Amino acid sequence: MLQVGRLPPWLEQRLNSEFDITLLDRQADRAAFLRDEGARFTGVVTSAFAGADAALIGALPSLQVISNFGVGVDRIDLAAAKARGIAVGHTPDVLNDCVADTAIGLMLDIARRSVEADRFVRAGKWAAGGGKSIGLGRKVSGARLGIVGLGRIGQTIAKRVGGFDMAVRYHARHPVADAPWTYEPSLIELARWSDFLVVIVAGGAGTRHLINAEVLQALGPRSFLVNVARGSVIDEAALVHALQNGVIAGAGLDVFENEPHVPQALFGLDNVVLLPHIASNTEETREAMGLLTLDNLRGHYFGGGQLKAAAPL
Ligand code: NAP
Ligand code: 8YV
Repeated sequence: MLQVGRLPPWLEQRLNSEFDITLLDRQADRAAFLRDEGARFTGVVTSAFAGADAALIGALPSLQVISNFGVGVDRIDLAAAKARGIAVGHTPDVLNDCVADTAIGLMLDIARRSVEADRFVRAGKWAAGGGKSIGLGRKVSGARLGIVGLGRIGQTIAKRVGGFDMAVRYHARHPVADAPWTYEPSLIELARWSDFLVVIVAGGAGTRHLINAEVLQALGPRSFLVNVARGSVIDEAALVHALQNGVIAGAGLDVFENEPHVPQALFGLDNVVLLPHIASNTEETREAMGLLTLDNLRGHYFGGGQLKAAAPL
């Protein structure tokens, strides 16, 4: 089995104890390695960050299965996998709680200015100002939350905020059957209505720059954007402009277009909270994701080809 990119050390150990793993990152000349040895690999284990593009899939003529440590499969060329009958496993549901918690955390952080306030205290400005604090934040409880993408994680967020008495509406390509929240077919109208717009759609070509300058304009100067989906979903240049010019009130971002690079222009702004793609990073969730990554491989190799969680192709 070929491993693409690094995985948590405990997971790498388990993979090595159950499968014959070769780490692509260890090969000095990847192209030569794949040319000479690509035909011997029937499986790939990768992550949402490393993925498996068409060139890699093409270099592995015996490939049967790809197991992804992560739910998002936007970095895997699904069309290439489908064309060759290659199964793709991923890690849905086990991370819903932590990603939803992160979205809510970002909403609270940015509206209540808690990260900015922490910087203020650490810089000694509270004491230096004789106890004068930072300016006022905005109330989250009872506010209007628009969710872009009411899938597994989007629904978890919607359920959570019932405890905050928030009004919830959502946008996706299709309404979700039996969902108790109002479906808004127009993303622009949802943005106009929302105090907070949380983005949790799938990444990839279909959602690239879904959140553009027009959507940010509709969100407006009193409202906040939170992105826990993929950086590609937001036109980052338009977002930087919107944050610099008060087009929107602020943003909480866990993901970026060119990770791990974050636009320098955001570093000096107090109206944005920046996280290094950590929405699923808890001991509990990472363990569950790792076990599912393993179970998908076990299902393929020892369970009659049945993946525990197969990504739709
Ligand atoms: P999911 O259950 O497949 O939900 C995806 C949602 O996106 C669905 O509601 C889908 O509804 C909507 N959607 C897809 N294309 C759309 C479009 N063009 N316009 C509007 N809505 C669209 O996925 P999930 O498990 O909730 O995960 C969502 C995404 O979160 C993942 O794909 C991943 O990229 C990201 N994620 C990020 C982190 C992190 O660490 N920050 C962690 C986990 C997941 P329709 O089909 O009706 O449009
Ligand atoms: C992880 C993610 O950071 O599941 C996803 O789609 O983006 C996150 O959970 C990622 O899987 C680690 O590679």
